[in-house]
Amino acid sequence: MPDYIPTNAASSGVKLDKKTLKSIAARSDKPGLIYIAQWVAFLAATGALVWAALGTLWVWPAMLLHGIFLTVPAYSFSHETAHGTAFRSRWLNEAVLWVTSFLYMEEPLHRRYTHTNHHTHTWWVGKDSQMPFDTPMGFGGWLAEISGFALLRFHIQVFVYLAAGRYTDTMKMVTPEGGFAKMTRNARIMLMIYALIAAAPFFGIWWVVWFLVIPRILGAPVMLLFTLIQHVELQENSPSILESTRSFRSNRLAEFLYMKMNNHVEHHLYPQVPFHALPKLAEALQDQLPQPDPGFCKTNLEVMSVVLRRSLGRQTKAASIRQAPHMITGAARWNVSRSGQCELGRKIPIRSHSMSQWIDACATDDIDEEDLISWQHGGKSYAIYNTKKGFFASDLICTHEEQSLEDGLVIDCVIECPLHGGRFDICTGKALSAPVHKDLNTYPVRVEGGRVFVETG
Ligand code: FES
Repeated sequence: MPDYIPTNAASSGVKLDKKTLKSIAARSDKPGLIYIAQWVAFLAATGALVWAALGTLWVWPAMLLHGIFLTVPAYSFSHETAHGTAFRSRWLNEAVLWVTSFLYMEEPLHRRYTHTNHHTHTWWVGKDSQMPFDTPMGFGGWLAEISGFALLRFHIQVFVYLAAGRYTDTMKMVTPEGGFAKMTRNARIMLMIYALIAAAPFFGIWWVVWFLVIPRILGAPVMLLFTLIQHVELQENSPSILESTRSFRSNRLAEFLYMKMNNHVEHHLYPQVPFHALPKLAEALQDQLPQPDPGFCKTNLEVMSVVLRRSLGRQTKAASIRQAPHMITGAARWNVSRSGQCELGRKIPIRSHSMSQWIDACATDDIDEEDLISWQHGGKSYAIYNTKKGFFASDLICTHEEQSLEDGLVIDCVIECPLHGGRFDICTGKALSAPVHKDLNTYPVRVEGGRVFVETG
């Protein structure tokens, strides 16, 4: 049993009734496809500006604008597809993850696995593999971050290591079984494409420089200003997303570029909710959450002023800064006691063995179609599903980490874990996609007289 609690709604004391969550988290292809159409239209418009300005000094602001529309959505879309929430269709999700991770310049599975770890240990020093800088941050560190060069250097290192088949301790910590071969293959393919792009001007192909390479470099600082304020200068090593994560107000354009991730607290509480439904989620949770911070510009200005003042040895108070700057609490704070009662008061199921027997678990109409309920029996927790193929039962706890599947999404005959989006075949318990690789235990089910019986054991 792990000695930590994943950082999410449960660890933050936030609750949402299951029916509301299920309706908000419903998956569809349509919003993602509309987003692609709008993104391509914006890129065509800003690309036309670059075209019109070629040969003049106006080409630089045009490339900056084009770069913002290229780089920020590439980050946002690769993030959303790393979660697997952008589309209902899995293949569409994975195809867009590949393309947008290419633009973002990170191997797609490395992106997914480090992000999985980031959600488990949000803003825990030494545990969160996406905590990008030494903490607390100084002005030099801030400059290195927002210029984009620190991230670029890191991504190049990751590519080289993966392509060479050398795996760092962090990679070994976050990558599930069987992941390395695919990551190495992806890294080699991507490096070859980047090499072709780098060689293109030598063959007289300059459009890649004007429409891709320079805009990507110019757009990176804007992308990083968005991502920096997700957690920076908030509380580290806290189980509560409300303390470690920041939502901020946003106008329509920034919401589009960032795929509504300005609702970042809400996203970390319920990562299974797709981007387009985050405002709805924010509305449903408004009584339990603090007010969002001011907009993108004001919050970034406050962060910049705090890191500058820290470097000058001055006090670091500001409205959107809620952390005593040097406060780092002990990592053992949320250890689970031997009784299975964690310090947050959440009961973690303890498995026990009992004789196999058929138990009357619930009525058939207790479970909506394409849904599940949790059921406790003999000190053990089960998930009982109602699918198009009938009723099924499995363990309730995901095999990846100690996460209940109760708020997971049932799509056809697949259950998707609410924490990292790992998927299991409900009928067989088979682990279908990373980060899960260990199958779920399943239990025989029979239906009689409108009741669901589970054979426990
Ligand atoms: S806890 Fe990670 S996929 Fe379930």
